[in-house]
Amino acid sequence: MSDLVIANGTVVLPDGPRQADVLISGETIEAIVDAGTGQGAERVDATGRIVLPGGVDPHVHLMVGFMGQRSIYDFESGGIAALRGGTTTIVDFALQRRGGSILSGFRHRRKQADPVVTLDYGLHQIITDVNADTLGELAALRAEGVASLKVYMIYEEDGLKVEDGALYALMQQAARDELMLVLHAENAGIIERLRAEAVAAGHTHPRWHARTRPPITEIEAISRAILFCEDTGCPVHILHLVAGQAIDLIEAARRKGLPVTAETCTHYLALDESALERPNPHEYVMSPPLRSTANQAMLWEGLKRGVLNAVTSDEVSYSAAAKAMGAASFATIANGCTGIEARLPVLYTLGVAEGRISLQRFAELFSTWPADIFGFGDSKGRIAPGYDADLAVIDPQKKRVIGKDTDYGDVGYNPYEGMELTGWASETIYRGKVTVRDGEFLGTPGQGRFLRRANAKRPQL
Ligand code: URP
Ligand code: ZN
Repeated sequence: MSDLVIANGTVVLPDGPRQADVLISGETIEAIVDAGTGQGAERVDATGRIVLPGGVDPHVHLMVGFMGQRSIYDFESGGIAALRGGTTTIVDFALQRRGGSILSGFRHRRKQADPVVTLDYGLHQIITDVNADTLGELAALRAEGVASLKVYMIYEEDGLKVEDGALYALMQQAARDELMLVLHAENAGIIERLRAEAVAAGHTHPRWHARTRPPITEIEAISRAILFCEDTGCPVHILHLVAGQAIDLIEAARRKGLPVTAETCTHYLALDESALERPNPHEYVMSPPLRSTANQAMLWEGLKRGVLNAVTSDEVSYSAAAKAMGAASFATIANGCTGIEARLPVLYTLGVAEGRISLQRFAELFSTWPADIFGFGDSKGRIAPGYDADLAVIDPQKKRVIGKDTDYGDVGYNPYEGMELTGWASETIYRGKVTVRDGEFLGTPGQGRFLRRANAKRPQL
């Protein structure tokens, strides 16, 4: 007899959904058997429900300070929010401070996370200072299990931007040390000029955040990143892509055989620039900005065609008060929004329930491809024997209106406020244990583990 059986669900297997039982032994998926035939010491009845591979969210900022504000979620509470939303693995960020060492930034992040983290996590290493010493640290960083370096092509005022010469040198060394680059790709020069002009003209409303970051700023930066990838051989993943025209660039690069992948985020699929005309427009300031509804259709197309391979949250849990603090001018509002918990019901509702993508493609975007691209694909992202028993059981019938009170903790606002959603997780199973049931966390702080990452497996077009 197995330790746990998830019985009678529609199980989203790598080759498609099927009525089945999932048998779990210890932390591992033991077998998939015909529905109703499995025996387990413990049983979750998944009749009428869908059983998904646990979510993998590879773009999460927990416990972060940026633009003068601090986020609410740490590795305990943010992990619980993720688990409530069916996500069992995240990739967060370690920061190299300018003038500081990469490895000490990495070790600092592990110290913050390891004692309390409630789900499995990997780290991208943010690089802010490229010099001979830091380039010399990359091989040791890779040996610690970090497989990706994050570079901001913007945000000089926050001490984050890496200019082109340094980025190019970093990519040359990263290629040698088998690291990939994950990029916040926006053209700093154009944005800085447009921002300064807008502020000087007294245009401070949050709508100017979007107007000073037109699509060309993303498109140019992404095309530069692809050229650098081609020349240096360093694989590139484009974070939070929203400019639909850039999808063609990603596709052309992939067709040339370049190691280029890209994601979009939940908020870009659910929201458009009209949110910046709502009574609380500062809550919709994130970078890159919300764009048009026509653009949104291009993102769905890119997801359907397999050019965009992940939908991530880009979680940053600034509180409602923190977002409001800078509201006097678009230039002072802390960029980013929460979404780690909403990723599942928002993507399921807009994608599967509303008929834009299949259930299979949903599981790939929510879990399988992020696991493969970020080096967890041998243990996460699939319901298959030998894989970690990380699962989300969702109810495709139950409808619920999302709002600030449906999220875990005290963020105090919800960018998806008022949307009627389905696909909420009734149970999340983490390493073979039911860790969330009906929103209640049943696990313990510190149960999560740091994941040492393998090299990427990139999806083919
Ligand atoms: O607006 C955003 N995306 N905030 C989070 C930080 C970043 O740029 O990734
Ligand atoms: Zn970013």
